[in-house]
Amino acid sequence: ARADIGLIGLGTMGSALALNIAEKGFTVAVWNRTTEKTHAFVEEAGDLAANVIATDTLEDLAAALKGPRAIILMVPAGQPVDDQIEALDPYLGPDDMVIDAGNANFRDTMRRMEVLERPFLGIGVSGGEDGARHGPAIMGGGDPDLWARVAPILTAIAASFEGTPCANLMGENGAGHFVKAVHNGIEYADMQLIAEVYGLMRDGLAMEAPQVGEVFEGWNNGRLSSFLIETSAKVALAHDTATDGPLLDVIVDAAGQKGTGRWTAIEAQHLGTPIPVIEAAVAARNMSAQRGLRADLAATFGGVDRIDIPIDILEAALTCGKILCYAQGFDMLRAAARAFDWSLKPEVIARNWRAGCIIRSAMLDDMAEAFEAAPDTTLMAAPYFSDILSETIGALRQTVIAATSAGLPVPAMAAALAYFDTMRQARGTANMIQGQRDYFGLHGFVRMDTGDKDQHGPWADD
Ligand code: 6PG
Repeated sequence: ARADIGLIGLGTMGSALALNIAEKGFTVAVWNRTTEKTHAFVEEAGDLAANVIATDTLEDLAAALKGPRAIILMVPAGQPVDDQIEALDPYLGPDDMVIDAGNANFRDTMRRMEVLERPFLGIGVSGGEDGARHGPAIMGGGDPDLWARVAPILTAIAASFEGTPCANLMGENGAGHFVKAVHNGIEYADMQLIAEVYGLMRDGLAMEAPQVGEVFEGWNNGRLSSFLIETSAKVALAHDTATDGPLLDVIVDAAGQKGTGRWTAIEAQHLGTPIPVIEAAVAARNMSAQRGLRADLAATFGGVDRIDIPIDILEAALTCGKILCYAQGFDMLRAAARAFDWSLKPEVIARNWRAGCIIRSAMLDDMAEAFEAAPDTTLMAAPYFSDILSETIGALRQTVIAATSAGLPVPAMAAALAYFDTMRQARGTANMIQGQRDYFGLHGFVRMDTGDKDQHGPWADD
């Protein structure tokens, strides 16, 4: 046995990860449900094939691995993971470890750790195919001793930010997959905010896709510098030869989703933690899918107006919305740490997201610094970010006003603004809710003047 690690599942992500491992000088034994795929993979591995062992059976896979074994699963989330673990079990010893590197729901990961009588790690891997091949961000969850066993391989294959690998243990049991889900929730929101700004430029300012692409390219040199802005620029600048026009203009406006953003929204509700920008982004994907209905309603209710807004105001609005969305994501992580008894550290998470993952951005480095100084403070209150918020909130407000006046939808930006206005309102309006609840349900309220609890009325008709 000479392989350092095993990998099951040679789909896009699994293949890329296996090549990455081989390239870093480790020997990886691979297995795939269809054997032809395994052999094709090795044939296409070129020079790296020297570090790859193709195995036809799970027994062969186990035999190829040095002990105690470590096997990465890169199979579709859900039942396939359970099935694969079960199929593998007869060939493994009690110390052999299984690592689920898919986009698992963290609740499944927690359950597996409970019931499996073997070492198990759940790791979130971000960065798409290119990331998996050349350096993803890796969010580990589980026992620190188990993590230590595979950390040399995982840190070697991960992306690094100024020499620091973006592969870290986030926390206990399901924490790695939870952090990955929140990453994806933020990813949805970041993408939606960018899409809304694109919509304002397209429909409000009558700009063509390549012009939008140039704006994004410019922004990518400033404080919004990020993989998603860079991606959006490339998408907007792409040319379609068939129509001799922008490729973006021929893409159907219905977004797909595999579910991780939705899980984040669901878990936020379980935790009672507000993430309205992420929720708006999930809802926006759902609304985008209702194309037929949107076309009918467009015919019934008519069109929209142009807007008049400077491009740099849109840049500031996007910056503001982005900070508010990240503030919500990190607050949710803190709420989860309390609820699940995880030792999540926001500064470690922010550092881990600085390279390799889809939401990597210049701003995450500043977030890491802010959390190093004050790990328990919301980003909204961190001095560096509260200064930017003060400077940019007017632009977000101006943008939402212009968009809503023209009938252009900006659900995530509007949610960000509403969140800001709600959270900086010392005297809110829930006194009315408490009055209503007591009136019809005798739920009781607290008096502000005396602090007395369980108060009831008397109401006007008592
Ligand atoms: C990443 C991505 C990746 C993928 C998700 C989101 O971090 O590399 O988040 O995991 O893009 O599956 O996909 P959906 O948009 O289909 O939910």
